[in-house]
Amino acid sequence: MPDILKIKQLTRQFKIGGMLLGSKITAVDQIDLAITGEKPQILSIVGESGCGKTTLAKMILQLLEPSSGAIEIDGVPLSYYAKSKRRKAFYKKVQPIFQNPFTSFSSRRTVESYLYETAYNLDIAKSKQEAKQLIKEALQSVGLEYEQITGKYPNQFSGGELQRLSIARALIPKPRLIVADEPVAMIDASLRMNIVNLFKKLKDEYNVSFIYITHDLSTAYYVSDYIATLYRGNLIEYGKAREILSQPAHPYTELLLNSIPRVGQKWDEEAKLPEMETKEYAMNGCKFAGRCAYVKEVCRSSKPPLMELENGHQVLCIKFNDYKPVAQNEPITHAVSPISKNKSM
Ligand SMILES: Nc1ncnc2c1ncn2[C@@H]1O[C@H](COP(=O)(O)OP(=O)(O)OP(=O)(O)O)[C@@H](O)[C@H]1O
Ligand SMILES: [Mg+2]
Repeated sequence: MPDILKIKQLTRQFKIGGMLLGSKITAVDQIDLAITGEKPQILSIVGESGCGKTTLAKMILQLLEPSSGAIEIDGVPLSYYAKSKRRKAFYKKVQPIFQNPFTSFSSRRTVESYLYETAYNLDIAKSKQEAKQLIKEALQSVGLEYEQITGKYPNQFSGGELQRLSIARALIPKPRLIVADEPVAMIDASLRMNIVNLFKKLKDEYNVSFIYITHDLSTAYYVSDYIATLYRGNLIEYGKAREILSQPAHPYTELLLNSIPRVGQKWDEEAKLPEMETKEYAMNGCKFAGRCAYVKEVCRSSKPPLMELENGHQVLCIKFNDYKPVAQNEPITHAVSPISKNKSM
């Protein structure tokens, strides 16, 4: 069985600044990441604002073209789905959930029209009866009843209910993977855990994996099977959620864990560091060197290797130089094919 998701040496650069004095930042820097095996999993991607989470998510969702590297879903390279006639096939495999449920639905349409649209447009239902059945099931899975929602417009729902509706919609094609970029950021803090808990339930019920992108470490640690931490475009730590929680390896993860305040609080609410962000992106050595409690001279000059600890736990830090480096990924067998140029970035 192929892996549900395989990301190989994925890189995306952006030009910043003006035409003449402009430079580039590498928002996602040669990332290897996978959801392996047949069993669905929840992989959380955590990291503070500007570390590359959305850039990574957009590439998985084919909304942004990689600069280099490759992504496979169920063994099929994403480049296969780049042709417009294969868009339906792609959305049957991978579904997005966005941050703001109020912009996912137009205020002039009933919410059920969106659910029917997904069922029909992706050729999942052939008749109204069939569509209704699928929609009922999906709604029930997220704790809503069909009768409760019919004829209603988005403004008749709370943010939490609307986000449940977006999740129900994403379930209709029974995808392999749901990519949820900050799905609870706009939702009342008291309701966040309810929504995130749904992912755990749906994972088994629908046999679907989740990429859960968040600032909110407390929900991430609670819900995930695996956690990947990003810092300035680098994957700096990856491993089983429980292991990362009990034995964080990277000094940054350690810092984050020590600063977990309470459910719902974003850690960068206190420390927004925009100038530091660009400066750190431009650093040659370890991008965390300027903030690290254990920094050595070498950290500022050379990029640390990704080291393999026990149980697949990986860390990008010279503190672990006694361990062996993560084996080089097998070479990329297929080039990234250009995604249609007119697509919004
Ligand atoms: N279209 C773009 N053009 C130029 N720079 C970009 C573009 N999109 C993202 N970036 C830059 O790439 C870096 C990563 O951005 P990204 O949106 O992926 O971060 P993020 O982790 O999702 O942040 P947040 O938590 O605030 O959503 C940032 O420095 C950002 O300014
Ligand atoms: Mg983002």
